Amino acid sequence: MFSLVYMMKDVKRASDTFDAIAEHFDKTRNHPWEEVVEFLEECEDTLLDMGCGNGRHLLEALERGLEVYGIDASIELLHICKKKLDDKAELVRADVKSLPFECGSFDNIIYIATIHHLKQDRVDSLKEARKVLKEGGKILVSSWARELDRWDLEDDEQDLIVPWHREDGEIIDRFYHLYHLDELSEDVRKSGLKVIEAFHSKGNNYVKAEKVR
Ligand SMILES: C[S@@+](CC[C@H](N)C(=O)[O-])C[C@H]1O[C@@H](n2cnc3c(N)ncnc32)[C@H](O)[C@@H]1O
Repeated sequence: MFSLVYMMKDVKRASDTFDAIAEHFDKTRNHPWEEVVEFLEECEDTLLDMGCGNGRHLLEALERGLEVYGIDASIELLHICKKKLDDKAELVRADVKSLPFECGSFDNIIYIATIHHLKQDRVDSLKEARKVLKEGGKILVSSWARELDRWDLEDDEQDLIVPWHREDGEIIDRFYHLYHLDELSEDVRKSGLKVIEAFHSKGNNYVKAEKVR
């Protein structure tokens, strides 16, 4: 069912974390974000969801007639995704830093609330996204925003551990690199993608970009 397994450091951490919280996570993530829905409204043909989680955005994309593909590190979340999407999506267990697709495979990519879980090589993951996008293809990337004042961090700190409180009382730690909006735009630019728009919405920073020659 899930054709490839890439087990590197970040992906191992992600699968340990998200496998452990998958069931509870799914209960709390039922609705697509409206910023993502707005992006999907502009999309046609094929869409890849990098870090598809429980499939809430893939489901929305399917309902809009797109041909959908999802990759994620968590086998438990991929199982949940598969139940929701039936066989209407191609799901692959893979690392966002090593996408198992040919160059120029997709018209659109969403990469939502996932890049901030990578401890390193975040630009490499964006380079991978650029590689598998078609020329003229568009991507929407999002991260939790460092600009919020809710974080218990020194001014120059951006990395933190955020606990997930499971229903059975167990606490699971999640790693976050909290992006500044300018920094996220800059990383997208470094990958070779052309930034179209960068904006903040409801605690998240978003960058919309395009693959140009
Ligand atoms: C906060 S969830 C967001 C899920 C989905 N994008 C959404 O908006 O509901 C982060 C997802 O990224 C996945 N993930 C984290 N690091 C990853 C990596 N290196 N490769 C693939 N997936 C990863 C996790 O397993 C999890 O499903």
